[in-house]
Amino acid sequence: MRRLLIAGNWKMNMNLSSAKSLAEELKKETQGITTIDVAACPPFVYLTAVTEILAGSKVGVGAQNGYFEKEGAFTGEVSMGMIREIGCQYVILGHSERRHVLHESSEEVNLKTHAALAQGLTPIVCVGELLAEREAGVTDAVIRRQFDGSFSGLTAEQMKKTVIAYEPVWAIGTGKVATPEQAEEVHVGIRNLITERYGKEVADIVRIQYGGSVKAENAKEILGKPNVDGALVGGASLKIAPFMGIIQAAD
Ligand code: PGA
Repeated sequence: MRRLLIAGNWKMNMNLSSAKSLAEELKKETQGITTIDVAACPPFVYLTAVTEILAGSKVGVGAQNGYFEKEGAFTGEVSMGMIREIGCQYVILGHSERRHVLHESSEEVNLKTHAALAQGLTPIVCVGELLAEREAGVTDAVIRRQFDGSFSGLTAEQMKKTVIAYEPVWAIGTGKVATPEQAEEVHVGIRNLITERYGKEVADIVRIQYGGSVKAENAKEILGKPNVDGALVGGASLKIAPFMGIIQAAD
């Protein structure tokens, strides 16, 4: 059985005080959670404060990006080792906002995925098609290209430790959630890809989250699909009540 992972992607939101309050609330409210994994992914500058608050709690912490080089003259970048050192367990990689707004390529996502795994972090690697790509009927091809580019050279053991987030770009922050059937169809496609490349044993272990306008109201239905192993939540993770609604639906 795959353990569901509900991760909150705070994106470039919050300030120090609201980040700390949300972490305190999460620590308290998730005390009784036993059957699923939960994570919060604040902006870099709040990671230390949030990891300190959430240490020993049910909630893991993740960064929203990280660089693939270990150290050196890379102004503005943060290494996977630094992220690990301050107590993070996860790192989101290849989010569509990074791919499309910041022009990050699957080759870079691949280098970052290798670097994250080398540091013992769990990479949450995002894939997903644009609206025009879905309408053109090329969703499968886009996902396959992102999958092969992002996971190139990963061993079976490394693949098992990787989390994939399917996030249709047209559903992110738009309120237009994919139907549970649309999500399940792509998740099955991704699991088949893993089977093709790594075999069924690995495919059965890898967690595939859905992301894109997940809310307390639609979480149960989406998470009820057999190949949906959690959610990567943006907007609804910024306040305790909606995020707990999703966590409780998953638990
Ligand atoms: P959303 O964002 O839940 O606000 O749609 C999801 C994401 O981008 O990870």
